[in-house]
Parts: sequence; structure tokens; C-alpha cells
Amino acid sequence: MLTALIGHPVSHSLSPTIHAHWLEVHGIEASYRLLDVAPSEMKEAIENMRKKMPLRGMNVTVPHKERIIPYLESVDDTARAIGAVNTVVVEDGKWHGTNTDAYGFITHLLTHAPKLKANLNHAVVLGAGGAARAAVYALKQAGAARITILNRTYANAQQLGTEMGAEAAPMAQAEAMFATADLLANTTSAGMKGIAPLELPLQALPTHAVVYDIVYAPRETELLKQAAARGLHTVDGLGMLLFQAQKAFEAWWGVLPAVDAGLMQAVEDELRPREKASHA
Ligand code: ATR
Repeated sequence: MLTALIGHPVSHSLSPTIHAHWLEVHGIEASYRLLDVAPSEMKEAIENMRKKMPLRGMNVTVPHKERIIPYLESVDDTARAIGAVNTVVVEDGKWHGTNTDAYGFITHLLTHAPKLKANLNHAVVLGAGGAARAAVYALKQAGAARITILNRTYANAQQLGTEMGAEAAPMAQAEAMFATADLLANTTSAGMKGIAPLELPLQALPTHAVVYDIVYAPRETELLKQAAARGLHTVDGLGMLLFQAQKAFEAWWGVLPAVDAGLMQAVEDELRPREKASHA
């Protein structure tokens, strides 16, 4: 049997490492393949996959998370609410879409900042794209009483806020919003290798606030460094990737694999040479 990641580009993905590790741990004879499919090739690629591949399922990444929806036989409530599919399960030739990004976002956060379980009153989300949609959905499910979306383009924050039932505020109000935040979560790509970090008034956050960055390359982003320097609790982004994969693996293979030291070792072994290469 086969699982795969469909996206464009996909060569940087850690998903093959993650799933290969779990397939081996659970003794499942299957593989996980990378399928680089440009948007213009989507229709033909999907026809080919349906005809020729013994697929158990797929992960779907940028830029196809919304584009895949018309090709599916069904989409579950979570994926519908988020408006994006990151996991497809194939049953008797029928493709069913779900979304495990929200699960990944919240499971990793609450694993590493468990005090938020009882104390998540105000969450501030930076960004208004697909990742922000999953984050806002997850935070609502987790019971956040108030969610404020702050975004470079205020109109996008307003639109997402209206759709998801959250507040929107312009970046200029960051300081006032931060003052009451229990959680600050970055869902933009700012701070990723090669992309300048956001300039944020972190000094306005209360001392108990948790700062979560979904960017994982580098592991410790500028945002997390600055938050840690202020003594704030920080949560990095790699775990979100691991936990979204955990739920996808369960959907395909019927067993929830462990996000444990063995998996971290496999992922770090894969990341180390890449980090060395990028510093060379
Ligand atoms: P994804 O689906 O991965 O979330 P996206 O839909 O392109 O990606 O959304 C990216 C979000 O991050 C957007 O809210 C974007 O802001 P705009 O609405 O103004 O485009 C935000 N974003 C991306 N890069 C950014 C940067 N360098 N600085 C600030 N915001 C950024």
C-alpha cells in the first residue's frame, strides 16, 4: 500500500521521515512518497493516481489544500469548517477529505503548555491565511473565550474573523491586544529561514503568556528567542507537524503512533545535515 504527499514544492518535506519511522515501528508494509504536482497538472495527476496507485491515503500541502476539494467524494465537518483538506483517506476507491492541522496545532500546544488547558481566555493569532484558519478553529474548539486575529492586511483579518466568529484588529493595535493575551500564536511565514521576522511589542505581553510559533525552520525563530529572553514560555512549531502527521497516520492505519524520543531522533537525524548544508 502507498501513502503520499501531494504539493508543490514538496522536496523539503519531513513527512516521509516521520511516516517511514512509524510504519517501521508498527510493522506496516507500506511506503510514503512525495508527489510534486503543479496546479496546472492537478487534474491529470489525480486521474493517474486513481487509476494506477494502490493508495491508502494522502497528505495535501500548499498550494492544494483547497484545490483538492472538488476531487473528493466527501469532506468531513472539520475540513469543511477550516475550508481546507490536509489528509485524504481512500476507502474502496472513494477519497474522503479531513483536516488534521487543527489537531496538530492544539495537541502540540497543550502538550507543551498544559496550564493553558484551564487558562485560555484571550488568544492572539498573527496571520489570516490557511494556517490561521486551522489555528482559530482549534482554539475555539479548545474553549478560548476570546480570539483576536492580527494581520499585515487588516481586511484579510476582518474577513477571517467574520467567517470564523473571531475578532480582528489592525497591527497598530498589537500592543493593546497583547496586554490581555494568554497566548500569542504566529501562523504567518515571517521568521522562516530567509523571511524577516515580524516586529512585535512583546514587552506588552503579560508574564504568564505563552508564545507559540508554527514556523519550524529554524527551530528557534527570532520570535521565540525574543520571547524566551523576556522569560516567557515558548512552544516551537515542529511538534505541530508531528501531531498533524500522528492523526493522519491513525486515519490511514488505525493506530495512533507515538510522538516520542524515537520519532524526534529520526527527525533530528534528517534535519541535522540540512541545517549544516544551509550554513555552509
Ligand atoms: P498559509 O496557508 O500557509 O497560512 P497564506 O494563506 O499565504 O499561507 O497566509 C499567509 C498569512 O501570513 C497571511 O495572513 C499573510 O498576510 P497578508 O494577509 O497580509 O498577505 C501573512 N504573512 C505572510 N508573510 C508575511 C510576512 N512576511 N509578514 C507579515 N505577514 C505575513
